[in-house]
Amino acid sequence: MLITLWLRLGAFLGKTLLWLVGIGLLGWALATAWFAWQHRGPVPDKEQIPPGESAMTQDIIQTAIRIVDQHREGTRYLRDAHAKAHGCVMAEVQVPDNLPAPLRQGVFAEPGKVWQATMRLSNGNAYPQFDSLRDARGMAIKLLNVPGKQLLAERQSQGEQDFVMFNHPNFFVSDVAEYRQNVAAQADGKKAMAFFPSLDPRSWQIRHLFIALATLSPPPASPTQTTYFSVSPYKFGEANAKFRVAPDPDSCPNYTLPPQNQDLPNFLRSALNQQLSTDRVPACFVLQVQRQDPSRYMPIEDTSIEWQESDAPFETVARIKVPAQDFDTPKQNLACDNLSFNPWFGIEAHRPIGGINRLRKAVYEAVSDYRHSRNAEQ
Ligand code: HEM
Repeated sequence: MLITLWLRLGAFLGKTLLWLVGIGLLGWALATAWFAWQHRGPVPDKEQIPPGESAMTQDIIQTAIRIVDQHREGTRYLRDAHAKAHGCVMAEVQVPDNLPAPLRQGVFAEPGKVWQATMRLSNGNAYPQFDSLRDARGMAIKLLNVPGKQLLAERQSQGEQDFVMFNHPNFFVSDVAEYRQNVAAQADGKKAMAFFPSLDPRSWQIRHLFIALATLSPPPASPTQTTYFSVSPYKFGEANAKFRVAPDPDSCPNYTLPPQNQDLPNFLRSALNQQLSTDRVPACFVLQVQRQDPSRYMPIEDTSIEWQESDAPFETVARIKVPAQDFDTPKQNLACDNLSFNPWFGIEAHRPIGGINRLRKAVYEAVSDYRHSRNAEQ
C-alpha cells in the first residue's frame, strides 16, 4: 500500500517536472523568437531625434552635477564618471601602409601616418574605489595636432580627435529617455530597482539589468589586457561605424606581466607601471572599425544593441603603440586629471551620432566645465 503511494507520488512529481521543463523551454523559445522579431533589419542609416530630447538632457545634467558633488574627493572635484585614472600615457597611433581605400577616412586617410596621442586609462565608477571591485574600465585616446575644422566651435584651436571607450560592447540603456529615468533612480540610491520603474511588467528592463551587471566585471590583469569599445556609433566618412581598441601583443616584444597583488587598491596602476616603467616593455593595440550594414539589425539610436560581428566584421584601421615610459609622476597625474576627453572633441569625419552621443555632447561639457571651474577656485 505504502509502496504504491510512493510510486504514484514519484510518477506525479516526475510528470510535473517534465511539464515544468516543457513550459520553460517553450517560454524560452517564444522569448527568443519575439526578440529576433523585434530586433531585425533593416534599420535607418540616419539619426532619428525623438521629441523632448533636449529637455530631458537638461534634467540629466542636473543629476550629473549632483553626482559630482556627492563624490567630491578631498578638495578636488572629480569626473562624474571614470573618476579614477590608472595613468595617462603617451601613445603612437599608426595608420597601416596598406590600408584599403574604403577605410581611408578622417584621421585614417593617409596610409603610414603616425599620430602622437595621449591615452587615459580609468575605472568607470564615479567614486575612486579599489580596482578589485567589479566595474567598467575606460580608455580615452586623444590624437594631437589633427588638422581640419573641429566639431565644436569653441575648440577650433585644439586640433584633436578623441576616442572614448569602455570594455563592454553595449550600454545598459537604449536612449536618452531611459537614461534619464535610470540615472535619476540610481542617484537616489536605487540600484537594481532603477530597472523596474513601475509595477507594470512592460516597463521592466530585465535585459538591460543583465547588461549593467555584465558591464561591471572583475578587473583585467592590467589595463593593457582588455578590449575597449566605443559602444555608441560615429560617422566614418560617409558611413556609420562603431570602433574598438583590442590588445595586439604580437606587434610588441613578448612579455608576461608578473602577478600583481590584487588586494592593493591601485593594482591596475601598478601593473601599467610595472610593464612600461620598470620592465620597459611597450604595449600594443589595434584600433578597429565596424561599419554599419543598415540591412542588418545595427541600429544607431539604441546603444543597448551590440552590433554582431557576424553582420559586420571589425577591420583594423590603425596600430597603437604605448612605448616604455615613466608616466606616474605627480606633475603628469595632475595634468591627466585636468585633461578632458569628449567624443565631440574631433572632426566631422568622426562625428558622434545617436541619442546617447547627442546627450554626451551636453553632459560632458557641463560636467567638465563645472569641475574645472570648481578646481580653479580652490
Ligand atoms: C556610449 C557609452 C559611453 C562610453 C563608452 C563612455 C566612456 C567614458 C570614458 C572612458 C570616460 C573617461 C574619459 C576620460 O578619461 O577623461 C567618460 C567620462 C565621462 N562620461 Fe562617459 N561614456 C559613455 C556614456 C556616457 C553617458 C550616457 C554619460 C552621461 C550622459 C556619460 C557621462 C560622462 C561624464 C560626465 C564623464 C566625465 C567628463 C569629464 O568630466 O571630463 N558617459 N565616459
